[in-house]
Amino acid sequence: MASSNSVIYLLLLFLLILLQAIPPSSPLMMPENATCVDDGYFGELKFLDPQEGLGFFPSQVYKALYTAGYKQMAWIVHEKLIPTVRSCFRYNGTITIFAPKDDALLFYFRKIKLLQHVVPMKLDRDTLKTFPNNSTILTFQFSGHLKVHRPFFDDGTRDSIINGKLIKDWEIYNDGRVIVHGVPRVFCDSSNTNFDGIYQFANTLPQDKKEIAQTMIFET
Ligand SMILES: *[C@@H]1O[C@H](CO)[C@@H](O)[C@H](O)[C@H]1NC(C)=O
Ligand SMILES: *[C@@H]1O[C@H](CO)[C@@H](O)[C@H](O)[C@H]1NC(C)=O
Ligand SMILES: *[C@@H]1O[C@H](CO)[C@@H](O)[C@H](O)[C@H]1NC(C)=O
Ligand SMILES: *[C@@H]1O[C@H](CO)[C@@H](O)[C@H](O)[C@H]1NC(C)=O
Repeated sequence: MASSNSVIYLLLLFLLILLQAIPPSSPLMMPENATCVDDGYFGELKFLDPQEGLGFFPSQVYKALYTAGYKQMAWIVHEKLIPTVRSCFRYNGTITIFAPKDDALLFYFRKIKLLQHVVPMKLDRDTLKTFPNNSTILTFQFSGHLKVHRPFFDDGTRDSIINGKLIKDWEIYNDGRVIVHGVPRVFCDSSNTNFDGIYQFANTLPQDKKEIAQTMIFET
């Protein structure tokens, strides 16, 4: 009797150890003091040091983003954005993702609308140049469209400005089904941003100050 009791006890102990060894929801271990961000769709995301050890087989898009220095977005795109678009939204077409840089993500203190950075369209550099000024692009975030503006001194060859930001790294990844561009900052909430006001202000500046304003406002 005593021996069967100790077998049960050992089994319970083993089960307890096993349960504790399984990380809560992510395949990666949460490092202490990880920065966390509250996202409207995904809830609270903790940013990890992806070097801590991968719990998955890295995809090509993961490798491309990681190598380009977009380490947080490498994980988010691989683990969250692409699976969500394909499974939850059941969208099998080409998507374009605007990936904010690591430091931009880590020092952003409001809610990041990650799905506002994903568009159900093929948007390469030349396609974006052909968009009319002040046009709207829909995203996977219900309340988060993107605005496209043409830059000052528009001669047709300059890059478009997406939600008030110039793309920093074009086509970090492009396999024809997924395109990823790097942006310097997290996209602000377009439904609450007065882009016309920003342009109206910039339009009042003298010509020589406009180029400086363009760099200050749209490239940082
Ligand atoms: C986490 O934060 C605490 C308190 O600020 C600090 O003592 C600890 O060293 C930090 N741990 C790591 C891994 O940075
Ligand atoms: C999604 O599209 C790809 C390429 O067009 C195709 O090979 C694949 O079968 C499609 N998958 C589904 C589930 O429709
Ligand atoms: C820009 O587009 C918005 C709609 O997204 C519109 O309300 C606004 O009037 C437009 N601005 C100009 C100057 O045309
Ligand atoms: C683009 O539209 C904005 C209003 O949304 C306007 O202020 C700006 O001057 C326009 N730019 C060009 C190059 O037409």
